[in-house]
Amino acid sequence: MRTTQLGNTGPLVAELGLGCMGMSDLYGPADRGESIATLHAALEAGINLLDTGDFYGMGHNEMLIGEALAGRAREQAVISVKFGALRAPNGSFLGYDARPGAVGNFLAYSLKRLGTDYIDIYRPARVDPAVPIEDTIGAIAELIQAGHVKQVGLSEVSGETLRRAHAVHPITDVQIEYSMISRGIENGLLPVARELGVAVTAYGVLSRGLISGHWSAARAGEGDFRDNNSPRFQGDNLAANLALVERVRQIANDLGVSVAQVAIAWVMAQGRARGVTIVPVIGARRRDRLQESLGALDVLLSEADLQRLEAAVPKDAAAGTRYNAYQMGHLDSEKAA
Ligand SMILES: NC(=O)c1ccc[n+]([C@@H]2O[C@H](COP(=O)([O-])OP(=O)(O)OC[C@H]3O[C@@H](n4cnc5c(N)ncnc54)[C@H](OP(=O)(O)O)[C@@H]3O)[C@@H](O)[C@H]2O)c1
Repeated sequence: MRTTQLGNTGPLVAELGLGCMGMSDLYGPADRGESIATLHAALEAGINLLDTGDFYGMGHNEMLIGEALAGRAREQAVISVKFGALRAPNGSFLGYDARPGAVGNFLAYSLKRLGTDYIDIYRPARVDPAVPIEDTIGAIAELIQAGHVKQVGLSEVSGETLRRAHAVHPITDVQIEYSMISRGIENGLLPVARELGVAVTAYGVLSRGLISGHWSAARAGEGDFRDNNSPRFQGDNLAANLALVERVRQIANDLGVSVAQVAIAWVMAQGRARGVTIVPVIGARRRDRLQESLGALDVLLSEADLQRLEAAVPKDAAAGTRYNAYQMGHLDSEKAA
């Protein structure tokens, strides 16, 4: 497995990371045994970056990862945890809390659920509009001093917020959505990340399954997060977006690879072209999906391939926003350059 350093100060990670959210939450039912088997298969393939959030299944996801890692050397995994998102008993999102006083409390519960005494990368899931980012980062820096956390990350922030945070403590990576159909970071965040030596851990590389090549209109209405919160999965938007996928499928067929592999390889190619370390964090919940994603590591898109893809899926081709209006309102990344 090829590895890369996350930012100027971060750990060495495999060029592909595993996001564990869908194993506990938001993407419909998941099979617990298959989730654990997928985590083990990822570790055995050399993937070490495991991403979670304390609010994914209200602690379920951390306990699942803790179970998967039990009995293994702790250094095998680089655990990335998001905190601060508040959930109601029915699962709805209530807002964010990244006050300095709350950070240590969130961390204490995460350590217990994960069964570890440190977290590799700790990050606020969103900027808390009531708390200056400097205060939140300062609180994490204190937890680093105390030995409970190794690195600070961010999630869905603008370039300006990244600068402010980085001035308090070096930031390892910004986790943010990036794919052939979600390219907002190209003008705002990526140039700042390059300048500061901060990596990007990209989520939504398959646009939550929409551009994986496995989604179909028949899957709509399954009652998961995507039905209620993802305009791109709804009605006419879905039809328009799936038409884009068919254009990618033609190119994938010509290359003898799958649509998902093209989508992942495209993100990796952007990192190389733009001088930023970009690690796709893939939401595989099953071993077959993981294997398909691993295959993308061998797909090197040529300049001609990239131009064909650009023509097939131009920069702003997606129909619909990436989240619903309420959640878009919480994206610092969408507010300023
Ligand atoms: N920072 C943030 O705000 C934020 C937001 C969302 C997610 N994340 C993180 O990013 C991770 C990835 O989530 P995502 O939504 O971005 O996932 P994604 O990789 O864009 O999509 C995952 C979905 O695609 C399906 N899929 C189809 N083919 C696949 C393949 N070859 N490999 C992997 N999945 C395939 C998955 O499996 P099925 O077909 O089995 O459903 C799943 O439903 C999450 O687990 C979480 O850790 C972060």
